[in-house]
Amino acid sequence: MTATRIDPTASVHDVWVSYQAGKGVGSTHALRGVSTTVYPGEFISVVGPSGSGKSSLLHALAGFARPVDGQVMLLGTDITRARQAAIARVHRRGVGVIFQSLNLVPSLPIIENVLLPSRFARSRIDQGRAVGVLKQLGLGDRLGHRTSTLSGGEQQRVALARILYAPPTIVLADEPTGALDTASTGLVLEQFRLLARSGTSVVLVTHDLQAGVQADRALVMRDGQLVREIHQPTTQQLVESAPAPTTSEAVHDG
Ligand SMILES: Nc1ncnc2c1ncn2[C@@H]1O[C@H](COP(=O)(O)OP(=O)(O)OP(=O)(O)O)[C@@H](O)[C@H]1O
Ligand SMILES: [Mg+2]
Repeated sequence: MTATRIDPTASVHDVWVSYQAGKGVGSTHALRGVSTTVYPGEFISVVGPSGSGKSSLLHALAGFARPVDGQVMLLGTDITRARQAAIARVHRRGVGVIFQSLNLVPSLPIIENVLLPSRFARSRIDQGRAVGVLKQLGLGDRLGHRTSTLSGGEQQRVALARILYAPPTIVLADEPTGALDTASTGLVLEQFRLLARSGTSVVLVTHDLQAGVQADRALVMRDGQLVREIHQPTTQQLVESAPAPTTSEAVHDG
């Protein structure tokens, strides 16, 4: 009998990440032995309290944080000890990141920020497609505006437009709806869902329960560990596993 094996898009295996926070203060273990595997077309949310290691997990998957132990695979390449240049090559093969520092060039018009990776890669430029994705994200009236003149939430959407313009194999997004209102959040989540449906793996760090429940799988982080994986999470499960800051503030039972 032959079994069909689906190659993972990315994985972390018993990954430890530590940071030296300052002179004489010792090191913080941001990740303590985290393992998980991401498959093509999966929509994964990463939830948990502030400081639990969500961003660190994303940075490890992207190759931006070098583990002190464990193994990180990204698009079939072991990047655990890879040099920066090798990691950059893997990224060009199909990794899209939306991190808090958005990698946008502030002085460029937003449409040029969308086209920038394709210009670097010397791919064919499709202006019409770029205009289309910016319109989908509610930025149709801002096409020629310098990126620096947009709000934080608008710039987050430009970063997403760049990804939708040329969908990568995997998207790693850290709080991509953090600066958005409910309506824009819904719009952006819909785009992530469609991306995943078309085969892109999406790993989304979020405090937003609306985002958390849309995922196929939620990774619940606490104190640098992956304490739970919930398939098809419900709001109830997410609230119980990882109370959002607003929820715990609202409850405030002392
Ligand atoms: N560059 C750094 N230098 C030192 N310590 C760091 C650094 N980045 C993160 N840490 C520490 O590692 C731990 C995990 O941080 P991380 O940013 O992964 O948390 P998070 O779950 O993303 O939190 P938040 O929801 O607030 O963004 C925290 O204790 C944090 O203080
Ligand atoms: Mg974070």
